[in-house]
Amino acid sequence: MLHELTIETAPFPVGATGTLVVYAADGGNPEGVAAQIWAATGLDWARASAAVGFKGKQGQVLDIVAPPGVDAERLLVLGSGKPPADAEIVPATAWTDRGGSLAGKLLGVRVEKVAVVLDGADVTPERAGEVAAGLRLRHYRFDKYKSRKPKDGENGDPESLAVTLYVADKPAVDRAIADRMATVAGTLLARDLVNEPANELGTLEFAAEAQKLADLGVVVEVLDENRMRKLGMNSLLAVSQGSARPPRLVLLQWHGGGEGEAPIAFVGKGVVFDTGGISIKPAAGMEDMKGDMGGAAAVTGLMHALATRKARASVVGVIGLVENMVSGTATRPGDIVKAMSGTTIEINNTDAEGRLVLADALWYTQDRFKPRVMVDLATLTGAIGVALGQDHAGLFSNNDELAGKLIAAGLASGEKLWRLPMGPAYEKLIESRFADIKNSAGRHAGSITAAHFLRRFVNDVPWAHLDIAGAAMGANSSEVNTSWAPGYGVALLDRLVRDNYEGN
Ligand code: BES
Ligand code: MN
Ligand code: ZN
Repeated sequence: MLHELTIETAPFPVGATGTLVVYAADGGNPEGVAAQIWAATGLDWARASAAVGFKGKQGQVLDIVAPPGVDAERLLVLGSGKPPADAEIVPATAWTDRGGSLAGKLLGVRVEKVAVVLDGADVTPERAGEVAAGLRLRHYRFDKYKSRKPKDGENGDPESLAVTLYVADKPAVDRAIADRMATVAGTLLARDLVNEPANELGTLEFAAEAQKLADLGVVVEVLDENRMRKLGMNSLLAVSQGSARPPRLVLLQWHGGGEGEAPIAFVGKGVVFDTGGISIKPAAGMEDMKGDMGGAAAVTGLMHALATRKARASVVGVIGLVENMVSGTATRPGDIVKAMSGTTIEINNTDAEGRLVLADALWYTQDRFKPRVMVDLATLTGAIGVALGQDHAGLFSNNDELAGKLIAAGLASGEKLWRLPMGPAYEKLIESRFADIKNSAGRHAGSITAAHFLRRFVNDVPWAHLDIAGAAMGANSSEVNTSWAPGYGVALLDRLVRDNYEGN
C-alpha cells in the first residue's frame, strides 16, 4: 500500500525502533525519558546542540544518524518551543499542530518506522490524542488521479509510515485517540468530497456516499425530484433544472440522544458544480466551483464522526444536492418561483443559487424535525472571502447564545468564526419590485444580504449561518493540512455538539 500511516501506542520503556523522536523545550535540555535516551548516547549535548544552533525552538530539529548506545538508526530531537507559564492554558490545537509538524518532518526525512517519546506531566491522554490527530491530518494527500505515484526519495514521502507513540498511560491514551480519530476521519471524508472533481462526484454520486453512513447506524433518507416537487421545493428545483443531473435532498438522522429529545440540525449547501447558470461566472478560477458542496461535505463528515464515536446526542444532517448549469432548461434571470414556505422569490441572478437551495432545505428541516437549533454551512458568497480570508468563516445568527457557543467551538477546534451584523437596514436590500424578495442584492454587504435571505426560511428557530466560502477551499498549507480542501467545519461542529448537546 502506498502512503500508508499506522499509529500505535506502547508503554515505556522504548523498544527497538527505526527512528526515535524525543522533544526538547526552548532553551532547555531533553528531560525525563528523552534525557535518559540522550545520556545513553554518551554524546555531549552542549556541543551537539551548539554545532547546529539547536535551541529547542518549535520546528527546530537535531538529527543524529546512527546514534551510539541507542537501538535506533536515527535520533531526532525536536524543539517543542517555550513551555508556557501555565500549561493548563495551552490550547488543544497546539498539540494537534505539534503532531502535524512531526508528520511534516517525518515525511521530509523519509523514515518508515518511528517511535515518539511522549512523556512528562503535561502530556494528558487528550493531548496525546491531538498529536495522533495532527499526524493523521498532515499525512493526508489527495493524489488518486496521479497515474504515477512519486517514488521514495522523489518528493521525500515514504510509502508507509508506522508511528508508535510511547506514553505513560496506554489504555487512557488509546481511548482518547480512538475518540479523536472519529472526528479526524470525518474531516478527511469532507476533504475527499471537496477535492473530488465534479465529473466524478455529481448529485447521485454524493448521495451514494451519504447513503454509506447507514453502515454506521445513521438513518438515511433520500428525496428525489418528484418528492421535492410535491413538497413545493420550487426554489431548490429552479437551480437544478438546467442540469442533466437530478437533484437530491439527503436526510441523515443520528439518534444518539434521549427518547423524544428534539434534534440539533445541520444543513449543508451541496452544489456539486456552480457555473453561475445563465448569470455565468468568468472562466478564470471557475474550476474551484467543484468545491461548492463544501457545506454538504462538512455535514456528511460530521455525521460520520458522530456515528463513529457514538455521540450521545440526536442530530439531523440535511444536504441539498444540485448542479447549477447553463442550458436551454436553465432558470432565467427575472424568473419568479414560490418556495416551499410560500415566499415568492425573484431570481435576479442565477449565480446566487446557494441561498435558493438552502431556502427549501432550511424550511423543510425546521418544519419536519422541529430542531432545538439549526445551523447551516454554505460556500455562499465570494464576499466573505474578501472580508475574512481563509482563517475565519463568517457567522450570522438570530440567537446570541447559539452564536456564542459556535464562536467558542471555533476557538477550541481551530476552525474559527467571526460574527457579522444583521439588521433591518440590510433586510430592506433584498426587497423585490416583483416578488416578496429577490435572491441577489448586489455588491454591497453581499454576505450579509445572503444571510438575510436565508433568515426568511428559518421561521423562529434559533439559527446560525456559517459562510465557509473562504475557509472551505483553496486552503493555505498549515501544520495540519496541505490539501486544497481542509475539511473545514467537521471539527468545529463536532466540538459544538460535544461541548453543548451531549448527555443533556
Ligand atoms: N458558490 C458561490 C460563492 C463562492 C465564490 C464560493 C468563491 C467559493 C469561492 C456562490 O454561489 C456565488 O456565486 N455567489 C455570488 C453571489 C452574488 C451573485 C450575489 C458571489 O459571491 O458572487
Ligand atoms: Mn453561484
Ligand atoms: Zn455557489
